[in-house]
Amino acid sequence: MTLVPRSDDTLAELLLGTIRRKPSTPLSFDSLANKLHSDRDAILRSAKLLASWGYRINLRASSGIIFVSAPDHLTATEIRHNLKTKQIGSTIHAFRTVKSTNDLASAQADSGALEGTIVVAEQQTKGKGRLGRVWFSPPETGIYLSIILRPGFSPDQAPGLSLMTALALADTLAERCPKAVQIKWPNDLLLGGRKVAGILTELSADKDKINYVVVGVGINVNHGIGHFPEELRVTATSIRRHLKHKVSRVELLRDFLARFEREYARYRKTRLTAGHKRLRHYSSLLGKSVTVISASNRITGLATDIDRNGRLILRVDGELVPITAGEVTIEK
Ligand code: BTN
Repeated sequence: MTLVPRSDDTLAELLLGTIRRKPSTPLSFDSLANKLHSDRDAILRSAKLLASWGYRINLRASSGIIFVSAPDHLTATEIRHNLKTKQIGSTIHAFRTVKSTNDLASAQADSGALEGTIVVAEQQTKGKGRLGRVWFSPPETGIYLSIILRPGFSPDQAPGLSLMTALALADTLAERCPKAVQIKWPNDLLLGGRKVAGILTELSADKDKINYVVVGVGINVNHGIGHFPEELRVTATSIRRHLKHKVSRVELLRDFLARFEREYARYRKTRLTAGHKRLRHYSSLLGKSVTVISASNRITGLATDIDRNGRLILRVDGELVPITAGEVTIEK
């Protein structure tokens, strides 16, 4: 057999894959060295490297190595482990700090990144929100994710992608926080009436062809109240604030990616036909008097429905007016 030179990082990844298949079971240094075509010293070095990455591992000279637990870090290795998707996340770019995952994903897409490529970061220094706002992105508390899509359809079908993303996100959150999740049409997710997540979809398109779409998702997961700046404390929340305990960001992300893949497949086949009922079910606006401001218009009316195309239907002076986009405020 030829021994291929490997970096400690590569051996550590292989070791991790082997020991986490048998958690709580001691595996001897010799058997691991044998299995991974390495030697005891290299195995020990790799185990220490894994520990320095945040994995909890017990090392016993007599019995060997025991895998205890993985850290809640958004690394490619952790996201990939048990990820139940085919295409979404097939390439993962994971960073500690970036300016904006959406900007990085656009750059990747410009250089040919495939559909399903994702960019995640532990922190953003210039996280972008809608309408030129900043998305507050403190380190190791939230999920900052961008997904590259290359749908074959025309640009007018792109706004529905934000709504289908909102549906996948709402289902992911509702699994953990039943009955508390709402979608504030079209892009915001609310938990107990406060904003917990937002979606920023950016499009690169010619007249009648989409080159690519970057779907950016920011989720407030383990933020404590002190993580939020003063001005957001009343309007924003996190899953942790709602549940009063932390949740695994890695598990949440994997779960979201799987739901996103299913929702996207449905959207490609039948647009929002399958999601339309859920959009109404989760809506925070129906039955309320709202004002919608768009680039060209400002309109106030009673939010009465969300139609099969994902448009918000307002009743204004007895007439039904469909709205395709805009910033919504609820009238007191
Ligand atoms: C909003 O509610 O205004 C949309 C917020 C979108 C934030 C996410 S975080 C990951 C991705 N990268 C960005 O710069 N923004 C989006």
